[in-house]
Amino acid sequence: MIKNSKRTSQRKMEHLMIAKGEGIDLSANESWFSYVRLLHNPLLDTSPDNVDLTWNFLGYELNAPLVIEGMTGGHKVTMRINESLAEAAQSVGVAIGVGSQRAGLSDGSVIDTYSIVRKKATEVPVIANLGISHILGRNGLDNAKKAVEMIDADALAIHLNPLQEILQPEGSTDFTNSLISIRDVIRELDVPIIVKEVGSGISHDVADLLKEVGVNIIDVAGSGGTSWSLIEGRRSPEGSIKRKASERFADWGIPTPLAIMEISDLNLTIIGSGGVRSGLDAAKCIALGANAAGAARPFFIRAIEKGPAGVENELRSLIFEMRTAIFLTGSLTPDQLRLTHKYLLTDPLKSLIDERHIFI
Ligand SMILES: Cc1cc2nc3c(=O)[nH]c(=O)nc-3n(C[C@H](O)[C@H](O)[C@H](O)COP(=O)(O)O)c2cc1C
Repeated sequence: MIKNSKRTSQRKMEHLMIAKGEGIDLSANESWFSYVRLLHNPLLDTSPDNVDLTWNFLGYELNAPLVIEGMTGGHKVTMRINESLAEAAQSVGVAIGVGSQRAGLSDGSVIDTYSIVRKKATEVPVIANLGISHILGRNGLDNAKKAVEMIDADALAIHLNPLQEILQPEGSTDFTNSLISIRDVIRELDVPIIVKEVGSGISHDVADLLKEVGVNIIDVAGSGGTSWSLIEGRRSPEGSIKRKASERFADWGIPTPLAIMEISDLNLTIIGSGGVRSGLDAAKCIALGANAAGAARPFFIRAIEKGPAGVENELRSLIFEMRTAIFLTGSLTPDQLRLTHKYLLTDPLKSLIDERHIFI
């Protein structure tokens, strides 16, 4: 057990070291959000201060519809990163997730690297996190309950990450019974489940199946941001089959704006994430149908480089830009922007939307 948990903890560190470096963020080359334009309205009747960004989520009233996506925990050095992220989430008033709690399930000595988040973020939603492979089988429900208890979480995010597991040198690739396991956990768990991807997106059909078993919150985590294909690839030797495949599958998946639009008619709470790099991107997520936007890597980098103040600054910058964009469309709330279709699409996104028969 301990041997396993050491390996998990070591893997997590390798992920963080690679994620910190260059060449794994697809948004640096192409942002799918650049194919969305918000419709400008110059004839306004109020001031930006009157734009109300309040978001009611998981029983909390937040200052903005933003989520610091689940990233880390499970290794001593991640404690400081989670502490910085949590302090900033608390001070700005946004939701925050922890990274996969797999290590915490098998090694009690790293639990504080996760629970620091609840300790610092007392008045915002804190989201637990497990991969789908940890809720499959006999221990699934038990793992889910322990992950929630470990950090006194307000929800549990279950991440679906088949591409990552396939390319991971030591990945778990048997996903038999995924949907019924999610259903079973939902039936017994006291907090809501969020189903998320990790950078390949969720389609309409998949979201529909998830909804049928009781999932009400989906975080699309589409392609166009951090590429887990590239991150896992770097952990395999150069010239190896997995390394080669990781390059080919680097941008595999459903681009975030498309993923949001795919599921926008399902009456779910949608978090738009995957390549969100500005408040303007966040506003575009909302215009396309999301209730909130989330980002991971930008906060991770700020936490490492500048601690809590850096993360807080990044959040405030996102909020300023989101407020500005919402105001300039003539909307007073994110909901108003979401319900009034104030956007234009250009190719290649426009053709994908047509191809998928998404009716706007
Ligand atoms: C450093 C790092 C670690 C991550 N670890 C996890 C994780 O443990 N569990 C998870 O569900 N997603 C994890 N993710 C994925 C993010 O939650 C998010 O879905 C995805 O990276 C898209 O966001 P981005 O493009 O803004 O980075 C991680 C992302 C980063 C950058």
